Amino acid sequence: MENKKIIIGNQKMYMSIGEVSEFLKGITGKNLGSNIVICPSSIYIPYFLKHRYCVGIQNISFDDKRQYTGEISAKQASDTGIKYALVGHSERRLYFNEDNELINKKVIALLQNNIIPILCIGETIEEKNLLKTNRVLKNDIVSCLKNISSDDLEKIIIAYEPIWAIGTNRIPTMSEIKSNVNYIKDLINKIFKKDVRVVYGGSVNSNNINKLNKIDNLDGFLIGGSSTKSEEFLKIIEVVVNQ
Ligand code: 13P
Repeated sequence: MENKKIIIGNQKMYMSIGEVSEFLKGITGKNLGSNIVICPSSIYIPYFLKHRYCVGIQNISFDDKRQYTGEISAKQASDTGIKYALVGHSERRLYFNEDNELINKKVIALLQNNIIPILCIGETIEEKNLLKTNRVLKNDIVSCLKNISSDDLEKIIIAYEPIWAIGTNRIPTMSEIKSNVNYIKDLINKIFKKDVRVVYGGSVNSNNINKLNKIDNLDGFLIGGSSTKSEEFLKIIEVVVNQ
C-alpha cells in the first residue's frame, strides 16, 4: 500500500486494551506501508512496534533527562523506534495550556532526535467567522518554527486542522481547505525557501474521503475517531492509495 500521501491515525485516548487488540487483528496482513502512521496511546505503542507498524507518539516532552514524572523524552521515543510525533494539537493547547513557545521547544527536541514533527495548526470557529484564519495560521507557523533551519523544515509535516472541524462531523468546503493549505505552503516557501508537506485533519471519514482526496495540494490526512476502527481506517487508506 505504498503511496506518496501520508495517512496518520491519531487514536487519542479512545481505546481500551481489548479494542487495540481488535484493531491490530483487523489490520493484520494488510501490508501498511511506511506512509501509514499510527499514533496510539503511549502505553500501547510497543504492541504496534512489535508488528513493525510505523508509529507516532501523541505527545513528547520538550526536554531530555529532567525530573519530569510522567513525561516521555524525544530521545526515549527515538530509541524505541518511534518515527513521528504530534505536536501543537489543539487538544493539548486547550486542555494542557500548551502555547507556541513550548510547542517550538518540542519541535526542536524532536528534530534533534530524528523524529518527524507533525505540527498541528488551525483556527477556531470564532476566528474563522472574523476572517482571522490566515492571521492565526501565520502566527502559529512563525512562532512554532522559530529557529528551525531550512534543511530541518523539509522534515516537518504541517497538519491543517480547523479546530471547529475536530470531532464535529463538520468540514470546511473543499475550496476553503485548498486555499488555506496554499496559504500555509506559500508562507513557508517565502520564509524558508523550501516546500513543506501539509495534511488535512478534522472529521475525515470513509464517507468524505473521496472528495477530500481530490484536493490537489494536500499531502495526506490526519484522522482521529475514524482511525480507531480498523475497517473504517482501512477504507480510508484504500481510497487515498488507489484514487
Ligand atoms: P477527528 O478525525 O475525530 O475529527 O479528529 C481529528 C484530530 O484531532 C486528529 O488529530
